[in-house]
Amino acid sequence: MNQPSTEAISKQIAALLDSPTTTHGLVRTLRAAAKEIELHQHHHASTRAYPDGRISATPDKVQIGGGSHRINSFFNIDAVPPADLLWDVREGIPLHDGTVQTLFSEHFLEHVDYPRSAKHYAREAHRVLAPGGRLVTGVPDAAFVLSQYPADPSLTAEMVERWYANRDCHGDINTYLDLINYVFRDQDDDPVYNPHYWAYDHEKLIQLFTEAGFRTVEPWPFDPAMANPKRQWGSVYVSAIR
Ligand SMILES: C[S@@+](CC[C@H](N)C(=O)[O-])C[C@H]1O[C@@H](n2cnc3c(N)ncnc32)[C@H](O)[C@@H]1O
Repeated sequence: MNQPSTEAISKQIAALLDSPTTTHGLVRTLRAAAKEIELHQHHHASTRAYPDGRISATPDKVQIGGGSHRINSFFNIDAVPPADLLWDVREGIPLHDGTVQTLFSEHFLEHVDYPRSAKHYAREAHRVLAPGGRLVTGVPDAAFVLSQYPADPSLTAEMVERWYANRDCHGDINTYLDLINYVFRDQDDDPVYNPHYWAYDHEKLIQLFTEAGFRTVEPWPFDPAMANPKRQWGSVYVSAIR
């Protein structure tokens, strides 16, 4: 039997999503599948250009999962446009061994499954960095959010404003625990946003990158020339040296 094409599956999913009789649970699962199919299609288009999983260029500054936040002189790899290269990093980092000086990501790691993809990413980051090269990683700081519980309502309001101002979930954040749920899971019914799969704090980042072989893992002094300024509040960043 021929392998079914992802295009054919996408059409069937679209038809089911349009049907008023499709149950809510199935809608959620199909939406997630449709998103994965989109990533798969972008990734496979790129692997046709780079069948051995390595691009020919050797950029020395690379951003992973930057979305629309571009950094001057960085090569941007993301699963979806806009980016210099569309690549699903859960499949590895498509760069040559020991070639990168700075590998940057923020608010990306919590969007990949743990342990398989997160630990694979940490090992791949170690592989592509040159000796002495630096991995900078920022994530929502779960320790900060938990340390405020039970929180003053004004802090809840500030977090909602800073993190969810553009989203349609304000009516559903009714208590501080709802906000903790967002930070840990982010699995509401908005098809635009990607769920959070794992929560991190400073200790977990040290453990993850030390296990992957990094020599030192230290707090990173936030630099708005590189990082997205809106991420400074409530995030934890580390710099890991290979
Ligand atoms: C919440 S956005 C953060 C964007 C930007 N770093 C910022 O802080 O504004 C997460 C980004 O990670 C990207 N991403 C998620 N999973 C990915 C994967 N498996 N491979 C590559 N990029 C991924 C998403 O496409 C998205 O651009």
